[in-house]
Amino acid sequence: MMKKTILVTGGCGFIGVNFVRMLLVDRPDLHVLNLDKLTYAGNLQSLADVEDHPNYTFIRGDICDSDLIDSLFASHDIQAVVHFAAESHVDRSITGPDAFVRTNVFGTFTLLQAAKKYWLDQGHGDGASRFLHVSTDEVYGSLGETGYFTEETPYDPRSPYSASKASSDHFVRSYFHTYGLPILITNCSNNYGPYQFPEKLIPLVLNNGLAGKELPVYGDGGNVRDWLYVLDHCEAILRVLEKGQVSESYNIGGHNEKTNLEVVGLLCDMLDEKVGPLPDGAPRRSLITFVRDRLGHDRRYAIDAGKIERELGWTPRFVFKQGIEKTVDWYLENRAWCTSVMDGSYRSYYETMYGSK
Ligand code: NAD
Ligand code: TYD
Repeated sequence: MMKKTILVTGGCGFIGVNFVRMLLVDRPDLHVLNLDKLTYAGNLQSLADVEDHPNYTFIRGDICDSDLIDSLFASHDIQAVVHFAAESHVDRSITGPDAFVRTNVFGTFTLLQAAKKYWLDQGHGDGASRFLHVSTDEVYGSLGETGYFTEETPYDPRSPYSASKASSDHFVRSYFHTYGLPILITNCSNNYGPYQFPEKLIPLVLNNGLAGKELPVYGDGGNVRDWLYVLDHCEAILRVLEKGQVSESYNIGGHNEKTNLEVVGLLCDMLDEKVGPLPDGAPRRSLITFVRDRLGHDRRYAIDAGKIERELGWTPRFVFKQGIEKTVDWYLENRAWCTSVMDGSYRSYYETMYGSK
């Protein structure tokens, strides 16, 4: 029997790489089709060791390219979509929001149109088809010192990034209400773990800390994020895909609120312990530098993950101490990955591997 094909968009980004790896190990019954444009955030090298896996196909392409997406649905009989592809960095959305509107809004719309055409208009849906849109808790806005985001919290996005994700969530939901497309949405808190691009707080601090460079902390460092280990997020997504109720949203979080200053300080201490202090003997905390705050910086995010815990039996497997230990060790053991990202050489990998194909 033909294997069921799952289309993973953005499978060369941070969470996508971890998700593809998980599927190839845990779901031998699935064929994984990874569609990624390979923007600065997409790193094909991260999946180099699974490139020839019989259950894996990589396609370089843009989710805004409707002809390409239509042809993929038709040629692979896609019955599940897990949609990660996005512009994902808040700071970049402040300086250049255009790409966020294009990819996050128009790209999501293009995928929805293709799924609707193939599953509903042409009648190829197999009854278990699912379109899972991976979104963020940032759509809910910013919390004060108390309270949690639930699935009922009104949307109140405040950055161009979160506004583009909120818009895409609305489009996804509208395709259920209007056309009956079998959709699911997940809204997750901040992830950390292997393969994260070092523009995000945790890998940036690890990279700069190892290089003895300044560690920029925005504002007073008191902003709070709820950190979740990336594999817990991946497992939650798979659980929602396989057991979630069509049309529903599920919040995913780690019960793990920390101020940025706490996180940066902890990472400094861990690096000092694992590789020794700076060459002049100073502890890495001495590199912490308070810099101008991010515009519109959301103060606090915190997730109530009660719904997915109660209804789908998911809870995080990794407590922060374990997850952060694994993450720091991964960055220490994978200096070559970091170097190729920092010097840009990871970008020539596609041409080297696929240029002549
Ligand atoms: P990322 O920036 O690391 O990766 C994004 C991937 O999408 C890259 O591989 C990139 O090449 C690809 N991509 C970008 N534009 C594309 C396009 N037009 N067509 C095809 N591919 C394109 O992002 P991430 O951190 O892995 O996040 C993945 C998803 O999860 C995003 O939708 C993000 O909003 C969501 N999310 C992320 C977090 C987090 O903490 N990182 C938390 C909650 C939700
Ligand atoms: P980030 O990793 O960009 O994720 P997000 O903005 O999606 O939450 O940032 C996490 C927090 O760390 C956020 O409050 C901004 C802060 N931050 C810094 O203080 N310094 C930095 O250099 C970066 C990248 C982020």
